[in-house]
Parts: sequence; structure tokens; C-alpha cells
Amino acid sequence: MNKKLIVANWKNHPDTLAEGREILDFTNSYLESLEGEKDLSLVFCPPLVFLEEIGKMLKMSHLEDISFLGAQNVAIDDKITLTGEVSGSMLRKLGVQYVIIGHSERKWKLGESDETVNKKLKSVLGNELIPIVCIGEKTRDGDFKNFLEEQVESTFAGLNADEISKCIIAYEPVWAISTNPNAKPDTPQSALESIKIIRAFLATSYPGLAKRSGAGKLQATSYLYGGSVNSKNVAGFLREKEINGVLIGGASVNKGEFVKILTICVG
Ligand code: PGA
Repeated sequence: MNKKLIVANWKNHPDTLAEGREILDFTNSYLESLEGEKDLSLVFCPPLVFLEEIGKMLKMSHLEDISFLGAQNVAIDDKITLTGEVSGSMLRKLGVQYVIIGHSERKWKLGESDETVNKKLKSVLGNELIPIVCIGEKTRDGDFKNFLEEQVESTFAGLNADEISKCIIAYEPVWAISTNPNAKPDTPQSALESIKIIRAFLATSYPGLAKRSGAGKLQATSYLYGGSVNSKNVAGFLREKEINGVLIGGASVNKGEFVKILTICVG
């Protein structure tokens, strides 16, 4: 397997920082047991209140080389005063390098629009942070291709090829997120089909991007799959060359399951 990116989206879990530390200790001990280079990168996205402390904990010996700190949200603009929000520049000063934006729970449960996601995306890029942009259809029925293309168009509106090449796109079908009723993971084949739809649409809309993807030396947009990823199904997704990693929610706060997933990633 090529080097894969594993993003742990802790959402509003665990309840205490001590439990967060347990997850990191357990992961660190596992990494310690591995010999040689670890062929993966990890991004931990804890709840906002734990960001600073988790950032310090990531300095643990075996996590330090391969782990990065991620946030789950950002304010739409650094210059607007907004109660309850945290700006991109504040996140950067805290040591954050990645920011998840456009997560379907924020869209469908909190009413966040593609236009808001677009503003957040610009703020993240403006602060030289790496955006992990979630894209996904609500149901697989009907013209889901059109739905995905429209979402991509409004999410990336006003960006250029260079900026899009810096993004990580997480294909997360809403129906596959474990917190939804009757959720079930997508199959690697159909996730790949959707990723190809997104990639083709972007390549057509931004011709400069297509050249980058083939050029090797230039940075190219990366793609992740997310939605009910666990130790039983992760190998199928990571086996696909065009899936550069996974975005894991529920299973990333279960330390045993998370380490099992890592075992498969390095296997
Ligand atoms: P899940 O969550 O792995 O629990 O389905 C993924 C996500 O919401 O990012």
C-alpha cells in the first residue's frame, strides 16, 4: 500500500481529556512496537476544548514523526467578530495544520450551507492550513452525480487550480455516516465511482488541475473515503490507488478498534 492518510474525527468525544490521552497512549505504544518507517500519516481532530492539550500530547515519541493536529471547524472569516467562533489564525497559532470543513453533520443538522463552507475553505487556505473538504450525497437515489457536481461547484466557487490542488477532499456519503439511522458503509467500488465523478468534474472546470494530477511533481488534490470505516472494511478502501486515505469518526475514539485499523494500514 502507498503511504495513506488516516484522519481521526473525534467529533464531540471523548467526554474527558484523560480519555483522549488514553487513545493517544495506546496508539503510541502500538507505533512503538513497529520496526522501521511507518508508512502512514495521522491527523487527530479532537474537540476544540482539547485541541491545545492534544497538540502537546502528539509530541509523544512515536506519534511525533507522523501525526498532525486537525480542527473540526473554523470561522468563516478572521476579520469578522463572531461570538462563539474560532478563527483560522487562532487555530494556526495553536499548532493546527488541518481543518475539516463541510462535514455533513454541520450541513444537515446545523443548516450550514455550501456558501458558508466556501467561505470557510477560503479562510483555511488563506491561513495556510490544509482543508479536508467533505463532499457527499444525501441519498444514492436519483441523479446523485448531478448532486455531487453541484455541491463541488458551489463549495469550490472562486478558487483557482493551485488552491484546489492543496485541498484534501473526503468523499463522505451522508447515508454512510455511522450516526445516521440505518447507516452502512459504502463499497470501495461505489466510493471510487463517486471520487471519479468529483475528480472529473474538477478537472473539466479547472484545466490546470488535470495537468497537476498527472505531473507527479506538482501537488495534486488528495481523496479520502469516510463513512462507517472500521477494521473490517478499511483494507478494501485503502487498496484502491485513487483513495489516499480514510476519515474515521466513531471507530477513531475506540482505542482498540483504532489501533486495529492502523495495523491493517501498515500491513
Ligand atoms: P463515522 O464518521 O466513521 O462514525 O461514520 C465519519 C465522519 O463523520 O467523519
